[in-house]
Amino acid sequence: MITLALSKGRIFDETLPLLKAAGIEVLEDPEKSRKLILGTSNPQVRVVLVRASDVPTYVEHGGADLGVTGKDTLIEHGGQGLYQPLDLNISRCRVSVAVRADFDYASAVRQGSRLKVATKYTHIAREFFASKGVHVDLIKLYGSMELAPLTGLADAIVDLVSTGNTLKANHLVEVERIMDISARLVVNQASLKLKQAAIRPIINAFAQAIEQGSPA
Ligand code: PRP
Repeated sequence: MITLALSKGRIFDETLPLLKAAGIEVLEDPEKSRKLILGTSNPQVRVVLVRASDVPTYVEHGGADLGVTGKDTLIEHGGQGLYQPLDLNISRCRVSVAVRADFDYASAVRQGSRLKVATKYTHIAREFFASKGVHVDLIKLYGSMELAPLTGLADAIVDLVSTGNTLKANHLVEVERIMDISARLVVNQASLKLKQAAIRPIINAFAQAIEQGSPA
């Protein structure tokens, strides 16, 4: 049995065409069921639904053989014990710094002010501000980051930006693009050795589908 860890939403939806290219169809719609283990058209392959931030952990510890996870999540996890054969080029977005429209970020940085930064991405944020020589107090949050500058909890946030609609709706502006993000395929290293015959064809089919540009 091969177990693939996915998170609901964009990653799940955009992985479906890649699975299809590998001859695998998921038999249930996660939006219509509370099931966490989904069968596929291949009786030897199943999908488990986990929180996006838990995908690397499942794959690292062998709870899943394969997983699809954002580069952001992978950096925060550390990526230890994971084979990362493919950038799937799906779920593209960026990690950015955003502030209230009336906050003068450029002059705060110029003056060497100490910034309060709220984020779920503490590794990425710490490294980025250190590389700029900006002193920051990081405040770890798990969601709704946009609220932090609006309530005075923080001067800035480090968060994912895709369309920019969430920032706009909350009167925040993007002041720095830290990195581009896309989803990666990650593989448990022991599984790759022990289940080589089943896993290699999936990796190869994904690689071919990406090359042909078939995914959304
Ligand atoms: C992400 C991110 C932003 C939003 C950005 O949240 O945290 O809130 O998407 O997208 P946009 O630029 O297209 O508006 P997500 O919905 O993934 O949920 P999360 O808050 O759990 O991270």
